[in-house]
Amino acid sequence: MNDIEIAPSILAADFGYLMRDIKAVEGCCEYLHIDVMDGHYVNNISFGIPVIESIRKYTDIKFYTHLMITEPEKYIKAFADAGSDNITFHIECTDDPDRLIKEIESYGLTAGIAVHPDTPVEKVFPYIGKVAIILIMTVYPGFGGQGYLESSDERIRKLKKAIDDAGADTVISVDGGVSGSTIGKIYDAGARLFVAGSAVFHSDDPAKAVEDLKKCCT
Ligand code: DX5
Ligand code: ZN
Repeated sequence: MNDIEIAPSILAADFGYLMRDIKAVEGCCEYLHIDVMDGHYVNNISFGIPVIESIRKYTDIKFYTHLMITEPEKYIKAFADAGSDNITFHIECTDDPDRLIKEIESYGLTAGIAVHPDTPVEKVFPYIGKVAIILIMTVYPGFGGQGYLESSDERIRKLKKAIDDAGADTVISVDGGVSGSTIGKIYDAGARLFVAGSAVFHSDDPAKAVEDLKKCCT
């Protein structure tokens, strides 16, 4: 991964022109962020396995699949088979994160663990060094276009310190409210993999929006 990566979230794409929107960013991003919502863990339903399988046929960009679903253990294989490169599940949705991480990795994927804004960030500390990505939700999961939760800065800093103390290479990712006006301080706090929906796909030029976001970090 580069020092800064933007992972465009297709939740903000135009689903009527989904491949067009993906093609617009595939050349400038390592990851595409794919938000799966089941109407149980979050109060929204997005899309699922058949959509991922379909888009997999037409792009090589890595799929960073964010499962906002209860009982993720039931569906890991299906999301792996559909073409995910990373599967990130919520710590709030399982009693056995270690088992899920093992299963995800057994399919040759990287694992990520996400943490809800109301869950103490310390809950994910035991997984530092065990997962490739820790995803700090910087909005309440379920919808795009919300404002960045200011309380996230401190959570990112705490996690960054814990990762540094452990000498681990786990990447801090953030999801929600990433824009030109928030990304600079989020970068300073320690995040390196930025999920961005509206800031990328609600722009007339998604690739330029990605480059502009990166520039705000330096
Ligand atoms: C929210 C999703 C996000 C969302 C971010 O539950 O996990 O990935 O698409 O959207 P923006 O960047 O618009 O806040
Ligand atoms: Zn997401």
